Amino acid sequence: MNISRKTCFFFSAYGGTERVARLLSEKLGIEKYVFNFTSDSVFLDFREDDLVVFCVPVYGGRIPSPIYDRMKDISGKKTPAVVVTVYGNRAVDDAGIEMRDLVSSKGFVVVGYAEFIAPHSLAPQYGAGRPDSSDISVMDHFASELSSRIEATDKPQPVTVPGNRPYTRYSGSLVKPVVSRSCIQCGECVNFCPAGAVDPDEPRHIDGKKCIGCMGCIERCLQGARSVPKPVQAGIALALRKSCSERKEPRFIL
Ligand SMILES: Cc1cc2nc3c(=O)[nH]c(=O)nc-3n(C[C@H](O)[C@H](O)[C@H](O)COP(=O)(O)O)c2cc1C
Repeated sequence: MNISRKTCFFFSAYGGTERVARLLSEKLGIEKYVFNFTSDSVFLDFREDDLVVFCVPVYGGRIPSPIYDRMKDISGKKTPAVVVTVYGNRAVDDAGIEMRDLVSSKGFVVVGYAEFIAPHSLAPQYGAGRPDSSDISVMDHFASELSSRIEATDKPQPVTVPGNRPYTRYSGSLVKPVVSRSCIQCGECVNFCPAGAVDPDEPRHIDGKKCIGCMGCIERCLQGARSVPKPVQAGIALALRKSCSERKEPRFIL
C-alpha cells in the first residue's frame, strides 16, 4: 500500500524515549510530523493511508497513566500504527499490550511492535549508553522490514503484541522528587509536568498523589532545585540491581 503521510508521537520525561523516537523517525523518513505529547494533548485524525508510530516508556510494567489523556483527541480510521515501548533494562511486562489496546480502541490497526532499551530514569546506571550501535542496527532492520512489509501488501495485518490481560497491577511510583530552597518558582516544571502535579501558584508544592515520578521536573529545573535524595537513589539502585543488571536486547514483531 501507498502511505501518504507518516507521523510519530512520543511521550518522554527523561529523554530516552525521545531519543528512540527521533532515531526511528529518521530511519522511517518521518521528518515533519514528530510530535512530543508528553505535556500536552494533540488533536489529530488519521486516514487509512497514514502510518502512525507511538513511542512510550514503561512505568511499572505499564504505560504512564497520562497517555490515556494524551490519546483522547487522536483517532484513526483503520490507520496502520506501530507501537514502540522503551524501558530501563528491567522488563516491559504489559506496557506493549496496554498501548496496543489503547491505540486499537482509537481506530488504529497495530501492524508492528518494537521494544528498545534506554537509561532507567530512576537509576540511570542501568541501561546506560542505550540505545547503542547494536540497538541501532536492530532499529535499522526493523525500519526497513516494516517499510517493505507495508509496501508489499494492500492491507497490513495486525500483529500480536506480547503481554497479558488483565495488565500487571501498578499503583504508581513511590519515588517523588523533593524541592530545595533554591527553587525560584520560575514555573518550568509547572509547564512540563505531564501529570499536572506541580501547583502553578506555588511550584514548590507537588501533589504527591498526582506525581507519576517521571523525573522530568528534575531534568528541567534550571536551578537544580529538584532531586531525589541520595539515600533514596541508593535504595532504588539496590532494589533494581537484580532485575536490571543483565543486558536486555531490543526486539520487534512484524
Ligand atoms: C516511575 C517509573 C517506573 C518505571 N518502571 C520501569 C519498568 O517497569 N521496567 C523497566 O524496565 N523500566 C522502568 N522504568 C524506566 C523507564 O522505562 C525508562 O527509563 C524509559 O527510558 C523512560 O523513558 P524516558 O527516558 O523517555 O522518560 C521506569 C521509570 C519510571 C520513572
